[in-house]
Amino acid sequence: MENNQSLEQRRDFIKKSLGLAGLVLCAGSMSTLLESCNSSSFNPNPTGNVSLDITTVPELAVNGGVVEKTFAGQFNGTPVIIIKVTETSYLAFCTICPHEGQIVSYPLDSTSNIVCQAHKSYFSPTTGEIIKGPSPSGLKKYTTLYDAATRILTITG
Ligand code: FES
Repeated sequence: MENNQSLEQRRDFIKKSLGLAGLVLCAGSMSTLLESCNSSSFNPNPTGNVSLDITTVPELAVNGGVVEKTFAGQFNGTPVIIIKVTETSYLAFCTICPHEGQIVSYPLDSTSNIVCQAHKSYFSPTTGEIIKGPSPSGLKKYTTLYDAATRILTITG
């Protein structure tokens, strides 16, 4: 009888110990996971200065056309979203989400919101401003200048 009771007490002790160890391991993993999510080592405002011959970009042949382009050595190597608004007017946005630095998806057309799929932040395709979601601010909007004579689009910022 005493042996059975002692065995039962040991089983209880082992169960409780394993449960506590599991909680400690789980808490440690969650801490690491949360730290990786809160990385603040990204730069949401990379700068650059490029000239783009738009005749080489078929997506920009029509008004409302959208393309995402990366320029070697510019904008920290991150893509830029370029939107053709009219024959002589273009918009350009940084693709780095100010929330946690993920790359946003470029819009399907000039009227669709720009979306960061990581935590669902939505940005205006005309201003880059935050519409909804956890991002603390909008996307960086670059300055665009189009020369109709040469058909060169300059993007700076
Ligand atoms: S990184 Fe969190 S919403 Fe973009």
